[in-house]
Order: sequence, then C-alpha cells, then structure tokens
Amino acid sequence: MSLKIDIKKAQQFLDKKVTILQPRVNEVHKMIKEKTGLGNDFLGWLDLPYAYNKEEVERIYKLKEQFKNLDVLVVVGIGGSYLGAKAGLEFVKEPFKKSKPEIIFAGNHLSANYLKNLLKYLNKKNYAINVISKSGTTTEPAVAFRFLKQHIEAKYGVEEARRRIFATTDKARGALFQLATQEGYEKFVIEDNVGGRFSVLSAVGLLPFIFAGVDVKEILAGAQKAYDDAQDPDLKKNPAYLYAATRYALYESGKAVEYLVNYEPRLGFFAEWWKQLYGESEGKNGKGLLVNSASFTTDLHSLGQQIQDGQRIIFETVMQVKKTDKLAIPFDDADLDKLNYIAGKEVSYVNLQALLGTQMAHVDGNVPNILLTIDKMDAYHFGYLVYFFEIACAMSAYLLGVNPFDQPGVEAYKKNMFALLGKKWESLQQTQEKKQLN
Ligand code: PA5
Repeated sequence: MSLKIDIKKAQQFLDKKVTILQPRVNEVHKMIKEKTGLGNDFLGWLDLPYAYNKEEVERIYKLKEQFKNLDVLVVVGIGGSYLGAKAGLEFVKEPFKKSKPEIIFAGNHLSANYLKNLLKYLNKKNYAINVISKSGTTTEPAVAFRFLKQHIEAKYGVEEARRRIFATTDKARGALFQLATQEGYEKFVIEDNVGGRFSVLSAVGLLPFIFAGVDVKEILAGAQKAYDDAQDPDLKKNPAYLYAATRYALYESGKAVEYLVNYEPRLGFFAEWWKQLYGESEGKNGKGLLVNSASFTTDLHSLGQQIQDGQRIIFETVMQVKKTDKLAIPFDDADLDKLNYIAGKEVSYVNLQALLGTQMAHVDGNVPNILLTIDKMDAYHFGYLVYFFEIACAMSAYLLGVNPFDQPGVEAYKKNMFALLGKKWESLQQTQEKKQLN
C-alpha cells in the first residue's frame, strides 16, 4: 500500500456526497491531460516521475563520485528552489544521523547572523556549493551566493572554486545562467515548463538527495506509483483527486483553514513544502484555503486549544505513518509518574491512541478530518506524497478556478523592498530598446 485516504470524518460534515463533484473532476482531468487550462505551459512536472532527466541523474552521480570526501554541500535557494529538498531530507533521514556530506541550506532568508556563522563554519570544512535559482535573479539566494562565491574562491582559488560550484537554473536565460556559463560551472536545468514549487523531481531536488545518499530511484518509484494512481479520474480509484475534491467541498461549505497534521517530527518540514505548494498555487483572486500545519502531539499543547474550541473554520488533513520503530515503555517499580498502566506498550501504540483520541475530539468539536495513511517514512513514500500532493494541487486549484502555476502576489513585497533599497528599474521596453541598439 502506498497511501490510503479516508474521508468519512470529513464527508459527515457535508450536505452532499463528495462524489457529486465527479463530472467537474472529469472535466478538469481532461483539461490537465490536454493541457488546456490556465498556466498550461507550466505542466512539465506532470510527466517528471517517468520523464525525469536521466542524463542529469547520471551526471550528478559522477559529480558525487568526484567529490566523495566533501564535508558539506551548501544548497543555495529559496521557495521552490529549496523546500522540496529540505523536506525530503528530513522525511527520509533518521534523527541524529549525520549525512556525509552534511547538507546545509542558505539563501532562503536574509539573516546576517546565519550567513556570518555559516561562512565561519565553512572555513574548516571541505565544501562545494549547489546554487539553485530558476530566474537567477532572486535576491535572497543571490545575496548568499555572492558571499559564498567570494568565500570559496578565497579558500580554494578561482579555478578550483569553479569546479566546486554547481548551478541549477534555466537552460538559456537569466543572471545565474550567464554567470554559470561564463565561469564554466557544472550546470543543471530547470525546464521552462516546470515551476519552482513543482520542481522537486528535477535536479532541484535530485542533486541534494543524491549527495546526501538518498535513494532517488526509490523516490522516483514512489512518484511513478502516484502518477499511475492518478491516471483514472474516478474518485473511487484516484486518491489524489479524492483529496482535492474533499478539500474543495469543505472550502465551499465554509471552511477557511486546512491544517496538515503529523504525528512524526520527521514530517514537520514536509508540511512547509506542502504549505508553499498550496499557498502559492491557490491563494489568489481573494480565494483559496489558508494553509497551516501542526505537529502533534507537540502542538496539542499549543494550537490544540484553538483547533478544538476556537473559530469553527478549520479542517484537518492528518498524516498517519503505520510502521515505525519498536520501543516498549519500561516498567518502573516506584511508578511515581503513574505510567505503569501503559508499561510494556509500544510508544507507537500510545501515539496511535493519541491520534485516534484527538481525531474523535476534533470531529466532536466540528473539525472535519481527512486521514492519509502511509506505511513508512522512506524515499518511496516521500516520492509518492510529492506527486500525490502536486497532482491534487493542480486539480484543487482548477476546481477553485485559479491558475495554479503563477504567483503574482509574491511581486508586491519585492517591489517595495527594491524601492526602499533604491534599486534602479529598467522597464521591459528599455531592455528591448537597448538590445536593438547593440
Ligand atoms: O514556486 C515558485 O515558483 C517560487 O517559490 C520560486 O521557487 C522561488 O521564488 C525561487 O525562485 P527562483 O528559483 O527563480 O530563485
């Protein structure tokens, strides 16, 4: 079993069966397949599970072989150019187990404190850089990369630094493409038709995964299974579309917030990737669910109160992991903590009772629940979930009537920041005029 979806505890809050949306789902499915919907030139990710760039994967493995003694790979990127890789690494890695090379992310904020200490840390490390930016002009990674480029050149000399910088960017355009070409960096491509937040199965995710020793064949096998499971639009057979239709029905019924809930700390960052995917794809034209996440049972001691008892605008999508480590609660003679009633029981059993108890309480408190169950937290299931949520996102956004693949709202903060920083603007017309002159 790759993934099981149970919508019973959501369906009970809806007047009509979710399956009433089947004709609309069929239409959207056709639109996705025939690439006739809004943003249809950004559907390259649809085929990535099978049509990923095999030549690049081979090249990444060779590169890893050349740099097998690295202590650190610094991955520079923001948004879709970093969240998937970070989510995947946390999803598959055992806690406290150090990977070699260690993967460190940078360029995903503008913290001087982080950057200064990172540069200090790298002084004594054998390291390389993977700079990722589709546009090649995003401020946060560009600022971080400027520092890192100077640092790596000072440490290894310009020639060796060039060998140690790998650029993942557009195939023909943009500042990073130009710089990488000029300097002779090893280049990997983000295709025109693959948007940032849908790019995990390209070199954007695959390079950091391969360097960290994650089995990308398994990630792709999981994604391929999710792809296969999404070919038939029948809501009874297609778990991704059933998820999309259910959350859409809940939205239409007046719910405004979706929490992605996990009971395993390793899934915490996966929710960050999910939030970007749905937030940036659907939150436009005054529409879309607000996306939030919670790690239980931790957040039952903080957000739990609000979910149980606050404004009744929330529903939850709960991610359950079936198989996890065996660890029985020890017996204690003194029993001062009064825990002997569960002595001998597995911690995972207690966690499951917490899930069931919470689900019952939240449903009683009018919080609809969708339950997604996966077997394990491994590369295969990460790959499955990536494609599952991507295809569900396309379906869900089209049901909502928005373009899933643009993010016009992200420009507003940039405009203000650039104005405050005194950046000189060149209009498109001025650029074209200049080009014609040259
Ligand atoms: O999903 C998206 O398109 C965005 O989140 C981008 O990935 C993010 O803004 C980074 O863009 P770029 O890769 O061009 O630096």
